[in-house]
Amino acid sequence: MVDKLSVGIMGATGLVGQRFLQLLHEHPWFEIAKLAGSPEKAGKRYLEATTWVWSSDPPETIVDMKLCRPEAKEFSKLDIVFSALPTSIAMNLELELARSGTTVVSTNSFMRLEEDTPLINPEVNAEHIELIELQRVKRKWSGCIIKAPNCTTAILTLTLKPLLDTYGIKCVRIATMQALSGAGYRGVLSMDILDNIIPYIEGEEEKVSIETRKILGRFENKSIIFHPIKVSASCHRVPILEGHLEVVFLELEEKPPDINDVIRIMEDFRGIPQELKLPTAPPKPIIVRREKNRPQPRLDRMVHRGMAVTVGRIRWDESCESGLKYIVLGSNTVRGAAGAALLTAELLYKLEKV
Ligand SMILES: NC(=O)c1ccc[n+]([C@@H]2O[C@H](COP(=O)([O-])OP(=O)(O)OC[C@H]3O[C@@H](n4cnc5c(N)ncnc54)[C@H](OP(=O)(O)O)[C@@H]3O)[C@@H](O)[C@H]2O)c1
Repeated sequence: MVDKLSVGIMGATGLVGQRFLQLLHEHPWFEIAKLAGSPEKAGKRYLEATTWVWSSDPPETIVDMKLCRPEAKEFSKLDIVFSALPTSIAMNLELELARSGTTVVSTNSFMRLEEDTPLINPEVNAEHIELIELQRVKRKWSGCIIKAPNCTTAILTLTLKPLLDTYGIKCVRIATMQALSGAGYRGVLSMDILDNIIPYIEGEEEKVSIETRKILGRFENKSIIFHPIKVSASCHRVPILEGHLEVVFLELEEKPPDINDVIRIMEDFRGIPQELKLPTAPPKPIIVRREKNRPQPRLDRMVHRGMAVTVGRIRWDESCESGLKYIVLGSNTVRGAAGAALLTAELLYKLEKV
């Protein structure tokens, strides 16, 4: 029996917050001690304050928990705080918590690109976690802030990593079909999206490009050297509730001997979370489907509790030398947010960095 660490969730009533609750239910190392939504929800029971959206009911252990105020002093005594707050609200709260000694693992974009801030997709760049030592010294913090990537980027980089390590990648082109849940509970009006596709998502294409280069970058001399890979993204909102589908075109440095070799490289891919047997690590981070009509959001988004991505239609891209194309689907709220953050917290715990 281990003594569990006490954790809190800020933004617990939102879409990502609800995923944290599902994933943390009966967690072997972490126990939920505090939850908060927006200030006006403070004092209410969790279920009374929340419009629950996911298909399985909220864990019984938390439905009667009272929400506290979303203030640093409420959360600062906890071992780990997960932040699923909107970026504009997160800034001051997360900074105050880190200053007061708390480990914050957060899903919003605030500080993702700061040079002393780890942006972690655990199977891809677990070694970047060492940056927290630099962050603590530079900012004179006893706590720290660690970021999970943007949802599209988390799903994409999981598939790029094994291909990059094996064949090298010159250039990535990606077109996305992104779910409504990616925009939060109040994100997209039904009148805008029903019977429709919106061919633009504010700031998303820039995030995919720059975050991919940071995550695939090298950790050297206490800093991250961004990968020179070129990334061009076109991002679109589609009337799907959950699961981002991404069409990926790669120009590889070296042509693979055949498509089966690419399939094998993807299927065999494992990262540090699998090596360390972290509780939330999917046994296989990438599932490859051979059927021509997979992956599909309804069928494939929750593989391994939403922690694995599903790849299909791997084939050559004849428009360039050493071109490869495929489709990847992943849960934006799990693999692209709460799941990546929780896996990062497990990594911190295992490496004794909390
Ligand atoms: N959705 C995704 O797929 C995804 C993926 C990657 C990253 N992210 C990032 O994760 C964060 C959460 O996303 P989400 O989709 O869960 O958004 P959401 O559904 O809109 O939830 C936002 C949460 O923040 C709370 N909140 C709002 N105003 C607040 C305030 N003034 N003070 C304290 N709490 C406040 C909300 O509480 P109430 O319920 O009381 O309003 C709710 O719990 C965002 O930064 C988002 O960019 C989301």
